[in-house]
Amino acid sequence: MANSDRIIGLTSELDEGGKGLRFDVINSKGETIPAFAVCFDGQYFAYMNRCGHIAVQLDYMPGEFFADDGQTLICATHGAEYAPDTGACLGGPCYGVGLEPIDIIVNNNQIELAADGYQLFVKK
Ligand code: FES
Repeated sequence: MANSDRIIGLTSELDEGGKGLRFDVINSKGETIPAFAVCFDGQYFAYMNRCGHIAVQLDYMPGEFFADDGQTLICATHGAEYAPDTGACLGGPCYGVGLEPIDIIVNNNQIELAADGYQLFVKK
């Protein structure tokens, strides 16, 4: 059964390789951490919105996480690229440090936060 406090958004809000959904998670220490979800290869993935290089958000415009070809996630600051389906670093100044994934589930076309330790989120 869906827990409305954990619904990030609807799958219909995400296009394959297109604009992502931004949201915040609040960890067990009460810290608010920006995060995002994207659609790639017919599946949905979520990550902390924090480059592996320096702790800045990736998107160059709110929700714009993909490189132009829609095949990689890219940090707008210095161009590190990441695999959309794993968050692994594919190149750039992050020297192999990938994105931190967040567990999500898709339930009745709703994307829900499933990550342990994150009690709340705030959709942006
Ligand atoms: S801060 Fe992301 S590539 Fe440098």
